[in-house]
Amino acid sequence: MAKDVIIALDFPTREETLRFLDRFPAGEKPFIKIGMELFYAEGPSIVREIKALGHRIFLDLKLHDIPNTVKRAMSVLSGLDVDMVNLHAAGGSAMMKAALEGLTRPDGTRPLLIAVTQLTSTDAETLRRELLIETPMADTVLTYARNAAASGLDGVVCSPLEAALVKGRCGESFCTVTPGVRFAGGDAGDQKRVMTPRQAGVSGCDYIVMGRPITQAEDPVAAYRRAVREFVGEAGTNIGI
Ligand code: C5P
Repeated sequence: MAKDVIIALDFPTREETLRFLDRFPAGEKPFIKIGMELFYAEGPSIVREIKALGHRIFLDLKLHDIPNTVKRAMSVLSGLDVDMVNLHAAGGSAMMKAALEGLTRPDGTRPLLIAVTQLTSTDAETLRRELLIETPMADTVLTYARNAAASGLDGVVCSPLEAALVKGRCGESFCTVTPGVRFAGGDAGDQKRVMTPRQAGVSGCDYIVMGRPITQAEDPVAAYRRAVREFVGEAGTNIGI
């Protein structure tokens, strides 16, 4: 699994998004994440437009519905030629398997399919009192990850602090996609448990998702290159520098 840095494009409009991407030199095409805000505001055309610029896209829509609905929705997303999509493992194995079927294109290719285990905004108290799950959080996360692996999914979104545990439980080739990454000495913002790109690299994360440390940087291109250098190492080949 090739390690890479994914930039979370948490901008509300097409204009701001394209202005940001325009700062990168023509040959440098970061892997980017499009979330619900931009997708719901601009629709599938923003995905096609960014794809046409040559970027790989993680479409972060976190699907969760009955298997047939998710299968058909995934088929539509796969047709947008995205590279990675996700869903909630809480939807169950039947839903995850249906999602994989929907994603698979007639030529047999498909985007990577990643599961969300427990949202980081769900704390132990919410798990017990509202979701009525008595199992400790870590066990829930690892069991959901295992269900995802057994259903044929490619990996999970998790904290960089959980990446090694997930790999231990689900196998080295099971991919970990980790937000909550900050440069040493940087502002953690609302992220509670953070790691630097270098630490995430050493911990076995396959992809790190970084938003504000890159998008809000004075020089976003330099910040992105620093993240790649620290995470992938000097041998990173995806940057045209
Ligand atoms: O700006 P920042 O680096 O915190 O952005 C992290 C990105 O990863 C955001 O798009 C956020 O929604 C997403 N994310 C997260 N924590 C999760 C799942 C997704 O921060 N557990």
